Amino acid sequence: MTASSTPFPAGFLWGAATAAHQTEGNNLNTDNWAAENAAPPRFPERSGDACDSYHRWQEDLDVVAELGLGAYRFSIEWARIEPASGYFSNAELAHYRRMVQGCLDRGITPVVTLHHFSSPLWFRQDGAWTGRSAVERFARYTEAVLPVLEGVEWVCTINEPNMVSMAEARMSSTPPSPLVPGAPALSDAAFDGLVAAHHAAREVLAGVSGLRSGWTIANQNVTAVGGADEAAARVRASIDDRFIQAARDDDFIGVQAYSRMLIGPEGLRAPRGTRRTQTDWEYYPAALGEAVRHTAALVGDVPILVTENGIATADDAERVDYTAQALAGLRAAMDDGIDVRGYLHWSLLDNYEWGSWAPTFGLVGVDRVDFTRTIKPSGRWYGEVARSNGARLDDPAFLEELVR
Ligand code: BGC
Repeated sequence: MTASSTPFPAGFLWGAATAAHQTEGNNLNTDNWAAENAAPPRFPERSGDACDSYHRWQEDLDVVAELGLGAYRFSIEWARIEPASGYFSNAELAHYRRMVQGCLDRGITPVVTLHHFSSPLWFRQDGAWTGRSAVERFARYTEAVLPVLEGVEWVCTINEPNMVSMAEARMSSTPPSPLVPGAPALSDAAFDGLVAAHHAAREVLAGVSGLRSGWTIANQNVTAVGGADEAAARVRASIDDRFIQAARDDDFIGVQAYSRMLIGPEGLRAPRGTRRTQTDWEYYPAALGEAVRHTAALVGDVPILVTENGIATADDAERVDYTAQALAGLRAAMDDGIDVRGYLHWSLLDNYEWGSWAPTFGLVGVDRVDFTRTIKPSGRWYGEVARSNGARLDDPAFLEELVR
């Protein structure tokens, strides 16, 4: 490991991230719940009670505080706040307000996402992001949540719109990508709707003093192999770059990176023979540094917040190795002048991974029956890294002591 032992800049945010559908449980009014519980179900496993964070959010915040982390990214669930089109639940707005207040009371900076993959079922039935009134509806929802956001500094409008466009293409049976064989297709109509909805939400949020808004992009680190530079550039432009470029006037951009996508002369190339994680992605800790550099090159002065990075592994020492290397890459990018304001590890909890419970991304384990939270050694390690503002990254004895 080649991490710098110099602390990160003062005020750097160290935190962890989750999302409502993956942790709250019984998220009944969403399109995801409907798909998980359809006959036959569209996924191998359902979210069910998830981590019961809807009721246990205070325990979650206590764990964040106990670890020594200063920030918590979570999402608020549109389908709870507006379970029927045009009906806004004051009780649910109050619930999320209590969560924000719970963060502030504990000295934790809340990073709030307005849309993290799951949508109200009625929104899906009306065509989701390609529906006629999608933009107005998202803006109306954003307006409704303004009271929840008082005192919140960081708001992510839409999580990973590039992955959302990919999912929309799958659902609408868009033909395979014309770019290169095997590359995922994206829905251009969804892209247009998402960009417009993001900008409309930003306009609503612009009125709140002290609030910065942006969106978070799943950087695929598209990499050319065997001289396929042009093909890789075409895929990169479609999958990542147009979404990153749409953030050029934003207050910040969220970078999320886990691995990379290889494009060879034959098309999409599986990372054969390399080390893989539980999600079958290439083990590639350099992803974060590369994604941050690529993003900065496209957005210029827009500050970066790393809103997700982590690894699905049953081997907790591997989580430490991966994260330490990812942070070293991040630090090197910052040393080269890139303005990064914080790092939010994915994920605080072992949670529902969109169709399966098998991949474990958490710094904290969760018992699937009684929901007990158990901090893993990697959580303690990351907490110490955070408390030392990164200085302990270069302390191997400390690693041994905590993890092995
Ligand atoms: C998503 C998370 C997901 C994680 C790991 C990101 O794409 O925002 O919801 O759990 O990656 O797959």
